[in-house]
Amino acid sequence: MEKVLVLDFGGHYNQPIARKVREQNIYAEIVSYQKITADEIVAQGYKGIIFTGGPDSVFEPDAPHCDAAILSAGLPILGIGYGCQLIAYMAGGKVTYNGEISEFGATELISDGSELLDGFPPVSICWMSHRNHIKEAPLGFHVTAYTERCPVAAMENSKDHIYGVQFHPEMIETEYGELVLHNFLYNICGCVGEWKMDRFVEYKINQYRERLADKKVLLALSGGVDSSVAAVLVNQAIGDNLTCVFVDTGLLRKDEADHVEKTCRDILNINVTRVDAAERFLSALKGVTSPDEKRRIISEEFNNVFEEEAKKLGKVDCLVQGTIYSDVLERGAGDISFTGSDEGALHQVVEYDEMAEPLRSLFKDEVRKAGLALGMPEEFCYRQPFPGPGLAIRCVGEITKEKLDTLREADAIFREEIAKSGYDRFTNQYFAVMTDTHSVGVIGDERVQGSTIVLRSVTSDDFLTADWSRIPYEILAAASARITSELPGITRIVYDITPKPPATVEWE
Ligand code: XMP
Repeated sequence: MEKVLVLDFGGHYNQPIARKVREQNIYAEIVSYQKITADEIVAQGYKGIIFTGGPDSVFEPDAPHCDAAILSAGLPILGIGYGCQLIAYMAGGKVTYNGEISEFGATELISDGSELLDGFPPVSICWMSHRNHIKEAPLGFHVTAYTERCPVAAMENSKDHIYGVQFHPEMIETEYGELVLHNFLYNICGCVGEWKMDRFVEYKINQYRERLADKKVLLALSGGVDSSVAAVLVNQAIGDNLTCVFVDTGLLRKDEADHVEKTCRDILNINVTRVDAAERFLSALKGVTSPDEKRRIISEEFNNVFEEEAKKLGKVDCLVQGTIYSDVLERGAGDISFTGSDEGALHQVVEYDEMAEPLRSLFKDEVRKAGLALGMPEEFCYRQPFPGPGLAIRCVGEITKEKLDTLREADAIFREEIAKSGYDRFTNQYFAVMTDTHSVGVIGDERVQGSTIVLRSVTSDDFLTADWSRIPYEILAAASARITSELPGITRIVYDITPKPPATVEWE
């Protein structure tokens, strides 16, 4: 399979570079600069190498430097930011610090004809982020772009197929960023662009078929998109040698546990063991009101249950986790994450020889596409996110079975009304919250104290920020009328109109 190596020097944007390459239908793998030699790169058949940016100064003693032989391995190389400076430094150019030359943000770029910048107008906008700069390009390199402050904004040595840009083509602010990558990948590396998600899936299935043949493999299935896609992928590689453990915490939405179990068994053909642990979670959470404490207890209880199940299997060879790229960024644990900083504690309670994270390099929308490529139902791949601690963090204050049951019904009504109206296409996450606020209501001639339910719906690309959905009043009215008439004890419904920030998506 045609692939390109993204050699990681610690920049924030190594994954976006890999993603931009994949968007051009070429598979990209990210490997740390310390973990690969020139010989290995050549042996693995990469068509080209991209050196990423990074926060260091190439001339500092501890700065990350790769195997010097990579520069003379004969493969096309594109250096970005720090990667460009490293090429200059290793090839004998001059990299220096001069505060006046630092650039951060959108900057005017002046370029002339070059292989890498083919198609660039004489003046365009690029995104800069550097303190150091290349003062002199190395011998054999030709400077192809500059800015007002940066004398070497792009350089190339077309004889040896080595190119560098000080600016960041992977950033959306660089007007012709995609063109840089396109020129490098297609014109310089000679790629043909054969990669699509179905190729990725096929590649991973073959890889795991070899790697995990005859091994005992375990996965914690949450019913969310990530762990389900990971499960289906590994299942297609090794069949029933994969055991998925699905823990019903009693904190799932209405009918969710049955739905997940049925879909996995009957449609996805996954070997799944369901553990009904609702009572155990409920008693562990008795009397607890602090959200942090709820998360901690749920995480601990989940690990205990999972550990017990894993022990029943005997020695596990491989633990599969549904970690995706945003989890790697947040140092989270895949889609079974109970706290913002959970480190994927499952690996601490299960004894295993190796860990596999097949989706680690993918963004959420890519994971959904991988699910479709694996033949998973569309409505399953496009499920809305659901937090690891489940309804516990949507049930403000102490959690009781009664509160949870009422919340489950209210949430189901709200979701039904949204789905019925077709508004689910315009919102990314929507749910009900059970507050511990009581307010006065009237039922018949009587004044009563009832509970308050909050309805929340947000639109968001990445959930780092979110806006509240402008749901048509009729949908809210229908949901409100049904919840108050079908659920005794609920006398007030409010709709949450706070964006994130300052609010978070969840209430706890
Ligand atoms: P917040 O509330 O932080 O939510 O704005 C952003 C996204 O993350 C989900 N979320 C969680 N997911 N464990 C999870 O697995 C958690 O503890 C957790 N808290 C929030 C939330 O549903 C939203 O999609």
